[in-house]
Amino acid sequence: MLIRKATGEEMLKLWGFKDTVAASHTARFYYRHIISGNAVFWTVDNGGELIGELYVFLNLDDKDFADGKTTAYLCAFRVKQEYRGRGLGSSLLHAALDDLKEKGFRTATIGVGSDKPMNIQLYRRFGFTAKVKDCHYDPCGMDENNQPEFEEEAWWLLSKEL
Ligand SMILES: CC(C)(COP(=O)(O)OP(=O)(O)OC[C@H]1O[C@@H](n2cnc3c(N)ncnc32)[C@H](O)[C@@H]1OP(=O)(O)O)[C@@H](O)C(=O)NCCC(=O)NCCS
Repeated sequence: MLIRKATGEEMLKLWGFKDTVAASHTARFYYRHIISGNAVFWTVDNGGELIGELYVFLNLDDKDFADGKTTAYLCAFRVKQEYRGRGLGSSLLHAALDDLKEKGFRTATIGVGSDKPMNIQLYRRFGFTAKVKDCHYDPCGMDENNQPEFEEEAWWLLSKEL
């Protein structure tokens, strides 16, 4: 298992899109930011099969999430079901957080639903103990008008000092 940075093209393929024309608004948003260098795609490469993903956005319109200098936002954190509970998600988080620290960032943020105790436990273990705010918008999840999608159920933005 190799933890590494991956490309925008690899993200599109992993999400099931053959190119940016076929991609969803959200996939296009991620792609655009990965290729511009404003987002980093971390993956678990299992002999060529990408089985985990975690994205780090360095700068976003909502500066509580990411401000390009001190604070960065982690999102779309997933490990394929059959590989969960083996430490791979933790390895992805470690890689992303170490890299941010090296870049000089001081704070990492991550979103979680209040009804997700296992995820909350994992993030707490990593030091995401401060709650920044309740959110109804994921700044990286785009609707058909390329605006952050409204989510009825509020979720928490947590933060951790690096
Ligand atoms: C959250 C996730 C990425 C963690 O990846 P992982 O490889 O299972 O993580 P690790 O093995 O390093 O750590 C496991 C910890 O994650 C938490 N966890 C959350 N959901 C889990 C799941 N479905 N299976 C196993 N662990 C899970 C547990 O707290 C667990 O802690 P424990 O080892 O003390 O029981 C993965 O479970 C996943 O893809 N879940 C579905 C998508 C999701 O919820 N993403 C996060 C959005 S906020």
